[in-house]
Amino acid sequence: MKTVKVGVIGFGYWGPNLARNFFDLPSAELVAIADLKEDRLQRARSFYPEVRTTTNYMDLFNMDLDAVVVSVPPALHYPIAKHCLENGLHVLIEKPMTQSSEHAEELIRKAESKELVLMVGHTFVYNSAVVALKKFIDSGELGDIYYIDTARLNLGLFQRDSNVLWDLAPHDISILLFLLGQDPVSISAYGAPCVIDNIFDVAYLNLIFPNQVPAHIHVSWLDPCKVRRITVVGSKKMIVFNDVENEQKLKIYDKGVDAPEYTDGFGEFHWNYRSGDILIPKIRVSEPLRQECHHFLDSIINKTRPESDGHNGLRVVKIIEAAENSLRNQSSKEIFAWDTLNMPALRQM
Ligand SMILES: NC(=O)c1ccc[n+]([C@@H]2O[C@H](COP(=O)([O-])OP(=O)(O)OC[C@H]3O[C@@H](n4cnc5c(N)ncnc54)[C@H](O)[C@@H]3O)[C@@H](O)[C@H]2O)c1
Repeated sequence: MKTVKVGVIGFGYWGPNLARNFFDLPSAELVAIADLKEDRLQRARSFYPEVRTTTNYMDLFNMDLDAVVVSVPPALHYPIAKHCLENGLHVLIEKPMTQSSEHAEELIRKAESKELVLMVGHTFVYNSAVVALKKFIDSGELGDIYYIDTARLNLGLFQRDSNVLWDLAPHDISILLFLLGQDPVSISAYGAPCVIDNIFDVAYLNLIFPNQVPAHIHVSWLDPCKVRRITVVGSKKMIVFNDVENEQKLKIYDKGVDAPEYTDGFGEFHWNYRSGDILIPKIRVSEPLRQECHHFLDSIINKTRPESDGHNGLRVVKIIEAAENSLRNQSSKEIFAWDTLNMPALRQM
């Protein structure tokens, strides 16, 4: 197969970005777009007059497609993706993969039994700055990883059928799994439903990774400032990924502190602070979503396992489920057991 015939299901806010990339990529042919709303389809036709449109996604099953992209509200990910897999289509499903791990497991089984590619839109693992960040960690330049802190904050976009955990945390969880190449051993979370009853709009997650490496995730729809930041603190150096910056997204700080040998004499007890250069590595800028779409097509054409495959999506869903459990019971701690589906180990780069 040289060209993959693709249909896009859901042409709301995010679907047009997916459609644009599949329209542009030479190894894809954008054949059809489905959305329940006629005004969204009118908009699709204004961009792509030659692409077929329909209000019924099941029409896509009769269009000789190879693959679909599911970019509808999260509650519909599972039933629509399942239906598409049953009709023999490779599926790229938006994040979060599903709203329960049982549903994610079912989709994995279905895709594997039919030898279809099932990929989840964890866009950040296709972000060149995040890939560069992982290379710095893996090269040992930062030394031992002491901890990771992430913040994804803004005012909005509020949702009624989801909470901030399911909406924003998939990004940071998928980044942490990618960077560390390990599953967390313990998860806890707390937060608050500030504006609407029962819908958490701010949440703080604590994940402990093997070797006692803590990671902290702060997500909020209710913050005065737009923040998109990941800080990795190592024994030798520290890195900040600031996605709000147009350029200079990564900064490597040659900063740290060495504890002195213990002595009884106060005068001799000096902390050894290091504050050296700040390096801004040059990163080839490319649209992460384009890389993601390209990777999906490659996985279909070359019959390979995508980086963010169904198992990766399931891992993220399981972590959110554990965090939500902890969130709703405030302060309880979820100890994690990775026991379902004999999941393959996370890939090291
Ligand atoms: N990867 C990312 O960075 C990123 C960013 C934003 C959104 N998303 C994800 O993309 C998905 C869509 O989000 P959005 O913000 O575009 O939502 P949206 O509500 O703006 O759009 C969803 C669209 O799906 C359509 N739809 C609903 N049911 C349908 C059905 N049965 N058949 C066909 N179309 C149907 C709706 O009419 C709407 O136009 C969500 O899963 C979201 O989490 C991912």
